[in-house]
Amino acid sequence: MKESESAEPPSSRLGAIVLAAGQGTRMRSGTPKALHPVGGVPMVHAATELAARLACSPTVVVLGHGSAQVREVLPESVEHILQEPQLGTGHAVQCAQSALEGRADRVLILYADTPLLTERTVRRLLQHSEGAAVGLLTAYLADPRGYGRIVRDKRGLMIQIVEDPEASEGALASTEVNGGICCFDAAWLWAHLPDLPLHDNGEFYLTDLVSLAASEKGTVATLTIDDPDEVLGINTRAHLARANEVLWERTRTRLLEQGVSMLQPSSSFVDAAVQVEPDVVIHPNSFLRGATRIGAGCEIGPNTLIVDSMVGPGCRIVMSVVEGSELGRQVVVGPFSHVRPGSRIGDRVELGNYAEVKASVIGPGTRAHHFSYVGDAQLGSGVNVGAGTITCNYDGERKHKTVVGDGVFLGSDTMLVAPITVGEAARTGAGSVVTRNVPPGELWVGVPARRARGQDRHSETRPEP
Ligand code: UD1
Ligand code: CA
Repeated sequence: MKESESAEPPSSRLGAIVLAAGQGTRMRSGTPKALHPVGGVPMVHAATELAARLACSPTVVVLGHGSAQVREVLPESVEHILQEPQLGTGHAVQCAQSALEGRADRVLILYADTPLLTERTVRRLLQHSEGAAVGLLTAYLADPRGYGRIVRDKRGLMIQIVEDPEASEGALASTEVNGGICCFDAAWLWAHLPDLPLHDNGEFYLTDLVSLAASEKGTVATLTIDDPDEVLGINTRAHLARANEVLWERTRTRLLEQGVSMLQPSSSFVDAAVQVEPDVVIHPNSFLRGATRIGAGCEIGPNTLIVDSMVGPGCRIVMSVVEGSELGRQVVVGPFSHVRPGSRIGDRVELGNYAEVKASVIGPGTRAHHFSYVGDAQLGSGVNVGAGTITCNYDGERKHKTVVGDGVFLGSDTMLVAPITVGEAARTGAGSVVTRNVPPGELWVGVPARRARGQDRHSETRPEP
């Protein structure tokens, strides 16, 4: 057995198997383990994305428990097979054999429950184990419980991996664990997979291949990594919480390096995929999630949640929620406002205190300051949405659209009963209930609102300011 690299050409075809069939019993969850989010994305994505970055082809995901649900989130670039019933990690690889045989010279095995693994580490393992039958990642853990323990001979060469429940006291004393990430010479793997022994619990362990390699003087190359977090296997909710903490911490470090300020980094929760441009200031208790981008110079928080949204430069979002929307430049949201999915907010718009916007397009410079609801609406530029104004978009059965032209002044407490159009530069009086379309330039008042004679914008009598 040899623990170093040898001379296989690096151009060999690399395939990957992602093991995602397990139930995740220890999570105590109705959701398959592979779908629990880490860093805002289902755990299985960490493995499939890693395989994609390493140009693995094919990447075969082994599905089992909750297969229909897990299949739905898989990227199109991967293939999948079903392991039914699930008889252990060795059995999972046996199930994937026919999908890979003849298509790859080396096979990388990734577990769907190990989301903190980095590309750099896997590249190191691949390089380190070139020419070996088995390449294996190990780590020393302060608390190795639950992991397969590495057993080495007197010379320090690895001879076995013993699973926690089956380990002798001697093996349990070892703090060196199997990280679960391994790579195989494909020919060697296919030749030896059928030899896996059946354990008393009815499972075939992938880890027994290492003992096989050792006993027949095959080559096992182990790489021990310094950062044990990388091989954190998510088996419990506590592991899940820990993994999210680690990812947030990695993201904070990166953002601080990239010119983002955080008043209290430990209370800024930014998903790994979120893009934050320089000179953004993030105040405490702010959550940036999903496919979100924050433009340069924005001020976010405190107490703010932004999900799947594009925020232009120079915006200020205070104590508010923004979801599935696009904000232009220098938009002010909050305090205490909610921009709901499907909204496009123009440059310099101001929303709140206490404004709610849903599925609406709002033109530049429009202001909706106090207690307003704008839903299924299209507002032009420079509109004043008076305090307490709402779009009555729902008639009990269907939603209807509101269109408000440029420069409209909606008086306080205007009810716009949709479907309705208010023409350019029109105005409504305080408390008016607008049930019919208002032509451009006119002033409408009352319940139901009617045209106020002699009070139009272009008439000689000026309205009170
Ligand atoms: C496994 C390793 C252990 C290692 C640890 C690292 C084995 C036998 N043990 O233990 O040595 O230290 O990971 O995290 O491999 N899966 C299937 N089909 C199955 C069973 C599992 O696809 O029939 C998948 C799971 O969905 C999971 C992965 O394989 O993604 C690992 O399974 P898990 O049960 O979590 O193994 P561990 O007990 O953590
Ligand atoms: Ca595990």
